[in-house]
Formats: sequence, structure tokens, C-alpha cells
Amino acid sequence: MSSEKFIKNKTVLITLVSACLIVIISLGIRQTFGMFYFDFSTDLGITLSQFGFALGLQMLLWGVFGPWFGVITDKYGGHIAVFIGFIFYLVGILMLYSQYNTGLYFVTAIDNTWGTPYFLKPIKLGFDMSIVSATKYYSGHSDVMGGSLAVNKKVFAKVKAAERVTGLRLGPDDAYLITRGLRTLDVRLDRHRENAKKVAEFLSKFKNIKLLYPYKKDSYNFRMWKKYYSGASGLMGLRIKAKSEKAVVKFVNNLKLFGHGYSWGGFESLALHQNVREQGNRSYLKLAKNEHIVRLHVGLEDPSDLIADIKQSLKHLK
Ligand SMILES: Cc1ncc(COP(=O)(O)O)c(C=O)c1O
Repeated sequence: MSSEKFIKNKTVLITLVSACLIVIISLGIRQTFGMFYFDFSTDLGITLSQFGFALGLQMLLWGVFGPWFGVITDKYGGHIAVFIGFIFYLVGILMLYSQYNTGLYFVTAIDNTWGTPYFLKPIKLGFDMSIVSATKYYSGHSDVMGGSLAVNKKVFAKVKAAERVTGLRLGPDDAYLITRGLRTLDVRLDRHRENAKKVAEFLSKFKNIKLLYPYKKDSYNFRMWKKYYSGASGLMGLRIKAKSEKAVVKFVNNLKLFGHGYSWGGFESLALHQNVREQGNRSYLKLAKNEHIVRLHVGLEDPSDLIADIKQSLKHLK
């Protein structure tokens, strides 16, 4: 075989082998991570769109860069590589277009448990899904497990199909308690908001405490909150500078009116020290070594009692 022919064949071979590898890797990813989808996708109404999308994108990239590879490596076999690349490019575009055409290209979802639909209306803002833990403000007594999902027309049929297949249902007792709680949601949230505002105003006087709560212009995320929300609920974060973690735990443990617990959104006030592990991946907070996070849920009690309670326990932070 002449060297020209060899180079030509080699380029075509490299083009085809790389393309096959891309397809095999994509299918591998799809097989490995898509097992759940493979088992349930049809019934759930979920298509393997993200993998189709990935494959389409890879084909497109190959279509663009593959021929260059051929042209650069071989001035003779380049034409064939360009042709094969062009086919891949077309297939890639068609695949991406068909994914786009399903209308389920990207689905946006928000956890609206903190604001509830009383303070924020995500579907009106353009979200496809709004998830609310009914365990919190909806029920209002921290004694129920449940959740709600509000969706727009675009995803309704898919969600309904998924719900049918997974058989997710709310128990009758939980449904009863949640609907009972919903009747007073607005009244309770108004009170949570007013109480939390008073507590926040009190806490804002302390230099060693930074509030993660949108109560004032210079507070964390205030502008975004102001733009979209009509109010704030009772849950807030305190970023506390203290000499030790022990001091922060002591502050929390010496609160008399704040219970210890995770299930916020009920009538009662709660306090929780978030240790480093519980902060999870919230690296955006960039806490210094002497900074700690305490989560307060301001309940429906008399706010002056709550403030007095916090005041008596603050001494432990010094
Ligand atoms: C913001 C937020 N959303 C959702 C949940 C989940 O709530 P559930 O306990 O009902 O699963 C929590 C739980 O703390 C939460 O804080």
C-alpha cells in the first residue's frame, strides 16, 4: 500500500473509530446512569432526553472538530473526514432539534417551602414546578409528613403519569391535617413574618451576628427577595462570630422558648446549631474559622418573650 493511501485509510479509520467510541461511551453512560429510566421511563412518561441531548451534542462537536482533525493530520484523507464529519454534524443538529421539539428541553423547579405560595408565586414567574413541603407551614404543627407539587401545563401530563406509576399518595389523616392547616396559613404566616421581623431587628444590633434573612436593605439577598417575594416567613440563619463552637452550642442550649428540632414551619420557635457537616455544600457562605451558623425558626409566640429569651442566652457567646 502506498504511503498516501495508508494515510488516507488511517484518517478515515481514526474518524470512524473515534465516532464509534463516542457512541459507545454515550451508550455506556446511558446504560449505567439510566437504569432507573430504562426500567420505568415508558410508564413514567420520561424520555431519555438528556442522553439524546448529550449524544446529539457530542455528534455536533465531533462534526465540527472531527474533520479539522482529519484535515490537520492528513491533507489527502481530509475530504472524506470532512464528509463523515458533516453527516455527524447534520445528525447532531437533527437530534438536538428533536429534543428541543419535545418541549421538555429544560424543566425548572423551585422549592417554595420557605416562602409558600402566600409570599411567592413561582408558576406565575415562569417556573415549571413548585415544590412545597407540607410538613412545614401548610400543616403548621410539625406533626405531618407530606408535600405538594404545583406544575404548569407543560409538565402536568408527565407528572400525573409518574404519580400513577410510583403510586405516591397522601394518607387520609395527613391530608386532613394539611387541609385543616391550610385554612389558617395566611394568618399564621402574617404573624411569623411580624415576629421574625422583630427578632431580626433585635439581632441586627449585634456586631458578632450577621443575619441571613431579608429584613433590611443591606441584608443578604435583599434585592432578589424584594423583587419576587411579597413577604418573608419565620425561618432565618444567624451567622455568628464566636470564640468557640462550644459557646454557640451553649447559646442554643440555653434558649428556653426555642425547642430543638428540624421540622420548622410549625407554631413553635426552634433553634438549631448547624455543625460543619450539616452545612453540606453551602460553600458560598465561606465561613471563617470563628464563624458558625445557627438556624432559628421564629414561631407564633409573643415576640417580646422570644427576644427576652434570646437576650438572656446571648451572654454565652461572649
Ligand atoms: C426548604 C426545605 N424544603 C423541603 C424540606 C423537606 O421537608 P420534608 O421533611 O417534608 O421532606 C425541608 C426540610 O427541612 C426544607 O427545609
